[in-house]
Amino acid sequence: MENGLELRLRSPKAFNLIRSAGEAAEMIKDGMVIGVSGFTPSGYPKAVPLALAERGKYGEKLKIDLYTGASVGPEIDTALTEAGMIRRRLPYHTNGTIREKINDGMIEYLDMHLSQCPQYVNYGMLKKVDVAIVEALAITEDGNLIPTTAIGNSPTFIKSADKVIVEINLKKPLAMEGMADIYMTENPPNRKPIPICNVADRIGTTYIECGFDKIAAIVITDLQDRTRPLSEEDENSKKISKNIIKFFDSEVKSGRLSKSLLPLQSGVGSVANAVLYGLCDSEYEDLTCYTEVVQDSMLDLLRAGKAKMLSTTALSPSPIALEKFLEEIDFFKEKIILRPVEISNNPEVVRRLGVISINTAIEADIYGNVNSTHIMGSKLMNGIGGSGDFSRNGSITIFSTVSTAKGGRISSIVPMVSHVDHTEHEVMVLVTEQGFADLRGLSPKERAIKIIENCAHPDYREALMDYFKRSCESAALQTPHILEEALSWHSQFMETGSMK
Ligand code: COA
Repeated sequence: MENGLELRLRSPKAFNLIRSAGEAAEMIKDGMVIGVSGFTPSGYPKAVPLALAERGKYGEKLKIDLYTGASVGPEIDTALTEAGMIRRRLPYHTNGTIREKINDGMIEYLDMHLSQCPQYVNYGMLKKVDVAIVEALAITEDGNLIPTTAIGNSPTFIKSADKVIVEINLKKPLAMEGMADIYMTENPPNRKPIPICNVADRIGTTYIECGFDKIAAIVITDLQDRTRPLSEEDENSKKISKNIIKFFDSEVKSGRLSKSLLPLQSGVGSVANAVLYGLCDSEYEDLTCYTEVVQDSMLDLLRAGKAKMLSTTALSPSPIALEKFLEEIDFFKEKIILRPVEISNNPEVVRRLGVISINTAIEADIYGNVNSTHIMGSKLMNGIGGSGDFSRNGSITIFSTVSTAKGGRISSIVPMVSHVDHTEHEVMVLVTEQGFADLRGLSPKERAIKIIENCAHPDYREALMDYFKRSCESAALQTPHILEEALSWHSQFMETGSMK
């Protein structure tokens, strides 16, 4: 242990509450709503969910509604799904095991804008949380919690819960204390403006309010987060990154942006990571990020001196980068602020700061509507996550995708998306490895031509242009479509395995 336990449990009351993971898991009963800490496999509880799953293995019939901040690790989603214990899950996941059960109809899934989840709980639009299970670095003298690498929805779940189980994780260095900035909003009509005018503004406390009255058990653990490894940057990711930087260059040239851009938000995954790596070698400087998740590239932007400040709700570097981060914690501590998701993704703040949002599409259509969540219209992938929070409110909204999928058999640019997450009204710039289409100020028909010419793969350009022209001829309307043909690209893929 790098520190004595008394540095983490700062009251004798806390020592009296120490229980095994199994004893704590016994407090969870059939039908309960469980809210857990964690966001984008980081800062989530591990020991108690694993102990809960054990009960399912021994044949106990128990089902819970599971609320999280966003994706959590396999100790929760895989273990509890395999134990048959999840009845309802929200607001986001990235787990293969649970994805299968959701698509099989065995688990009810609510795919929500992440900033809305705490509001739904606070407004009573979702069932209240019975038990919150929260990972913490330490418990203060008054029973308040010092969070670890993610804040997510912990403050809201703790406020809503009758009981709180705390996992004190000895693997997370106490030196992280001070990174959190916890600020809670009141419900309307009492809500006040959120006083963040700069990425670096601190407006709250370094702990989450809880109190010993609520703490039912404290479990000591040293299980490390299972963050996701990132795949190698491939050629397409590098080209997408270059095209986004080309777009930034044109904005700077036109005087709309300076060399420090505006605060950046970037989605998760390898492409998103590669996009920010591109900025490490660019002329851009004094960058800031107002985002929900920090991956390897954002840490490198700080290391390289290219970025000066990051605000996020979660730190989710790859396993190798996580180790390095924990070693260099003193360097990063002053440059990163961890906020609750209600604040990191808050529409009011995102609009005030003029965030540039960069997220990933599964497919986009010729008019600029984007599908980020469903394969072939029906099969859930992950969820909308925070992409809508940022894209609807950012100053510039960018979506990127590789122009083809499945070895070229699918065009990611289609006549009509098979599911809509982000509409033509908020998608401003579409980027593929082929180029970028700046859609701002363009009518639907103008957008279609730009998207087909700049973003579609050459193998599909002619067919897309043919569809567009025939649609215009059949009815010269605002957004021309031949409805019976619009989704035929998808049905053709389902029947033949190719859109060609
Ligand atoms: N049609 C059908 N399948 C497609 C497709 C298309 N147009 N484009 C991609 N796919 C498939 C891929 O083949 C892959 O399938 P596989 O798992 O069987 O290999 C899968 O979709 C994921 O594609 P990949 O290229 O690996 O995507 P990614 O890791 O870059 O993730 C999203 C892309 C959209 C799924 C992911 O970014 C996401 O979940 N976004 C929504 C949440 C979000 O944006 N959060 C942002 C705030 S952090």
